[in-house]
Amino acid sequence: MSRKFIVGGNFKLNGSNEFLTKLVEDLNKGNLDSNVEIVVSPPFVYLDKVRQSIRKDIAVAGQNCYLKSSGAYTGEVAAEMLKDIGIEWVILGHSERREIFKETDEEIGQKVAHALKAGLKVIACIGEKLDERVNNKTNEVVERQLKAIADSVSDWTNVVIAYEPVWAIGTGKVATPQQAQEVHKHIREWLHKNVSPNVAEKTRIMYGGSVNGGNAATLSKEPDVDGFLVGGASLKPEFVTICNARA
Ligand code: G3P
Repeated sequence: MSRKFIVGGNFKLNGSNEFLTKLVEDLNKGNLDSNVEIVVSPPFVYLDKVRQSIRKDIAVAGQNCYLKSSGAYTGEVAAEMLKDIGIEWVILGHSERREIFKETDEEIGQKVAHALKAGLKVIACIGEKLDERVNNKTNEVVERQLKAIADSVSDWTNVVIAYEPVWAIGTGKVATPQQAQEVHKHIREWLHKNVSPNVAEKTRIMYGGSVNGGNAATLSKEPDVDGFLVGGASLKPEFVTICNARA
């Protein structure tokens, strides 16, 4: 079966009213491959603006959400609140949430479960650090992270996995197509063995880490690369090139 290619733009802590107005205008005019699912993820404060102004064939994601629906959790945002303003997706478990904000595998699993229950689609991020790769721990790390997610998911329909090797994020050191394919294949094999052959076949696996307009087409040719989660380049006109990588 063919899995619909998906490209996410994670704007991270970037943007302004002026900048995002222009970015949305450019995407609204963009000649985008209709066979590709596109999701953009601005900072929380701009979610409603972007959702209200961007073309309807582009989905919008929160960059995080909490694992509770309401209560005394100052500064947090609930999955239900994202859903309430028409946001369809949420990115969870990003390596920057894990590293900087100390989110644990367990917490991320709880967030995934809660977001799915709230009716959001989830991009769940996993990926090893440089020292883990150097020490041949890549498979061990991604399996541990994936298990924490899988233990929280009963219905995989609205789950996409994003493999983002930490050493490739923001560094310009993109994984080679072979490196990406190797881990994506391992992730799919893990899903086949530990969840089901059907889930393994249907679950899309995005690659993230220094994807740009120059390397996207080659990476997209790998059989288990089903899309991209793009950081820096999603803020630039080349994001359209990345979205059309398979065209
Ligand atoms: O979530 C995607 C992001 O981590 C990748 O960042 O700038 O390397 O494309 P970048």
